[in-house]
Amino acid sequence: MQKGIKRKDLLGLKELERGEIEIILETAFSMKEVLKRPIKKIPTLRGKTVCFMFFEPSTRTRSSFELAAKRLSADTINISGVGSALQKGESVLDTMLNINAMGIDAFVIRHASSGLPYFLARHTDTAVINAGDGMHEHPTQALLDMMTMKERFGKLEGLRVLIAGDIRHSRVARSNIYGLLKMSAEVRLFGPPPLVPKEFEQFGAEVLYDKKKALRNVDVIMGLRIQRERLLESFFPSIREYRKFFAITPQDIENLSKDVLIMHPGPVNWGVEMDYDIIKHKNNVILEQVTNGVAIRMSVLYHFISGEKLDEEHLN
Ligand code: CP
Repeated sequence: MQKGIKRKDLLGLKELERGEIEIILETAFSMKEVLKRPIKKIPTLRGKTVCFMFFEPSTRTRSSFELAAKRLSADTINISGVGSALQKGESVLDTMLNINAMGIDAFVIRHASSGLPYFLARHTDTAVINAGDGMHEHPTQALLDMMTMKERFGKLEGLRVLIAGDIRHSRVARSNIYGLLKMSAEVRLFGPPPLVPKEFEQFGAEVLYDKKKALRNVDVIMGLRIQRERLLESFFPSIREYRKFFAITPQDIENLSKDVLIMHPGPVNWGVEMDYDIIKHKNNVILEQVTNGVAIRMSVLYHFISGEKLDEEHLN
C-alpha cells in the first residue's frame, strides 16, 4: 500500500527522499489515467483552495498547476505583481499572510529570488510549493521530467541522462541533478565551460566539454534554454558560435540508440540550443513532458494538501 507524504512543503528535490519521489511519480501515473477519462475531473480536493503567486512569467507551469487544481476540484485564486497591493509597496510576505487569512490550503510560488519559497514557508502552516525560484530549484519540472523518462524506459535506475546548455543559471538542471542522482540515474552535464562550471561535479554529476564524449551511449538528452535574461555577462562569443559547438542537432542523434529521448523543459530557443529539425524528430518528447506536467502537479497538490496516501476511492 502506498504511503503518504508527511512534510508540509515541496521546496526542492534536494530535501526530498527517494521514497517520496517514488510516491509522487506513482500517484502521477494514476492521475494520468484520470486525465484519459471522458470527464477528466475528480472531487478529491473539493473544498480546498490553491493560491498561485507567480511573480515571473510562465506558460507551462502556471497553466498546468491551475489545470491540475481544477481537475482535482479545488478552487483557485491568482496573485501577481501587477494588479495587487505589491504595486503599492506591500511585501510578498504580507501579501501571502493576508491571502492566507482568507483560508488557503496551498500556495504555489514562482519568484526570481532564489530561496523566497523557503522564507515564506517558514512563516505559515499552509503548504508552500516551489514553482521555480531564481536559479535555485524547479522541483515539479524535474518530477515531470523523471515521469517522462520512467514512462518510456520503465525505470530511472541506471539511465544515462545528458543535460546540455546553460547549467549555471538553470533551476531545472539543479532539481534534475538532485532528483535523478537520488533515483540512481547517471547525470552528465555539457555546454561551454563558463555555463557548465566544473564545480557541478560536487553534486555527483559528470561535467564534459566534448560533445562526442558527452553523447556517448546516452538514453536521454535534455536541452536547456540559453537564458538571455540571466546572461548579464558574456558567457560565450555569439549565438552563432554557441549553435555551432553546443546545439543538439539531428546528426548528433543519428548514431545513438533508436530509443534516445530528446527533452527540453521549454520555452525552447529553436535554432539556438536545439536545431529547428528536432521539432519534428520522432524522439522529441517535449510535448509529452508538458502533458505529464498536469499529472505530476495533480499528484503534488494531492499529497501536499491532503497528506494522505492515495487509495482507489480518491480517484473516483
Ligand atoms: N518549464 C517551465 O518552467 O516553463 P514556464 O516558464 O513556461 O512555466
